[in-house]
Amino acid sequence: MKEIRTQVGIVGAGPAGLMLGHLLHRAGIGSIIIENRAQDYVIERVRAGVLEQSTVDLMIENGVGSRLQREGMPHDGIYINVFGKRRRIDMAELTGRRITVYGQNEVVKDLIAARGSSGRPLLFEVSDVSVHDLESDQPRIRFTKDDEVREIRCDFIAGCDGFHGICRPSIPARHIRIYERVYPFGWLGILANAPPSSPELVYSLHERGFALFSMRSNAVTRLYLQCAPDEDLSQWPDDRIWDELLTRLQSDDGWKPNVGPITQKGVTGMRSFVAEPMRFGRLFLAGDAAHIVPPTGAKGLNLAMADIWRLSRAVARYFESGCPDLLDQYSDDCLRRVWRAQQFSWWMTSMLHQPVTDNPFDSRRQRAELEYVTKSRAAMTSLAENYVGLPIEESISGG
Ligand code: APR
Ligand code: PHB
Repeated sequence: MKEIRTQVGIVGAGPAGLMLGHLLHRAGIGSIIIENRAQDYVIERVRAGVLEQSTVDLMIENGVGSRLQREGMPHDGIYINVFGKRRRIDMAELTGRRITVYGQNEVVKDLIAARGSSGRPLLFEVSDVSVHDLESDQPRIRFTKDDEVREIRCDFIAGCDGFHGICRPSIPARHIRIYERVYPFGWLGILANAPPSSPELVYSLHERGFALFSMRSNAVTRLYLQCAPDEDLSQWPDDRIWDELLTRLQSDDGWKPNVGPITQKGVTGMRSFVAEPMRFGRLFLAGDAAHIVPPTGAKGLNLAMADIWRLSRAVARYFESGCPDLLDQYSDDCLRRVWRAQQFSWWMTSMLHQPVTDNPFDSRRQRAELEYVTKSRAAMTSLAENYVGLPIEESISGG
């Protein structure tokens, strides 16, 4: 068996694992990233696309923001369409912060390029990944690459392997607590070659359910429809998708999305999930490996980036001074932000999806809430503050 030694072994080359490898490299710390999928798959996988200001700042400050600055689409506001009445929330005016629309796969592309320039290892298409000796000071990652079993010996393991990865399940059940809520609906998402007809996102609640208008570029629109969590895509020819999108999104002011050829379709379920703590011995979980939010608040990628910022700082401090204080605080510090985002994502999801419950009282209450949220400056400020995201150092719910 071939043995390799590094300071940090990183499992998973999604945004979390790649950004960690990059920040560690900038701090002069060695890492090996292993990924079970092929490079093209990781790049092509269609995911979310809204970056908080602090995610954008983190990328720019660390030298991976130049394409983001050129091609990212800064948005000062969002629209909420409440049963046909489209109202704008001016996030920049209310909070002084904005969001940037830039596909997660573009982030991944930029980070893979940066990894290439660093000359540090990034191995795709590995299999049989397992982690060992997590409570020792030399944990190990075992995997197979090109039919050869290999082992990484390291000081720390970063579990950045997403919700279905192996790192979290490697923690003994008595050392981890799971909090979870699965929603009775999913999103059917499409990419279409159609120029966006609104410069900003439109979140819409219609009698037939939620819909969302987003974009990827001046030529590509990204759209979502609330559906069953296990919706059968074969029942959704393109015409049916457009009928439903137009019905749910168009507003009384005459706005509707542009229609164009659909280039990608998919269904995703919706879940809220937190594993606590985000650490076991020398294994640190980050990103989707530790927490999942429903996509309504656009927080998934941003939470992953905030975890990684903390983890890289904590690891750098340990290697510089031998001081484990930030490593010891890592989980608690991350979880404060995670729970704030969990609450926000749950709230946006419950407020914007149909039906909340079978009780007509709840429908009326939901409508009243949406009226308030789109008319009261105080309520809009609260939504905007959460949507644009807190600075990474701050957290309202923590001490
Ligand atoms: N070994 C190696 N790699 C693995 C393994 C494994 N056993 N299991 C999963 N992976 C890889 C996946 O193929 C994926 O590329 O780990 C990576 C995890 O990446 P993501 O799922 O993208 O998760 P993360 O990096 O935490 O990104 C945060 O924010 O917008 C949300 O869910 C969205 O992916 C996004 C997330
Ligand atoms: C997206 O563009 O993919 C997107 C935007 C906003 C969300 C979720 C997804 O809340």
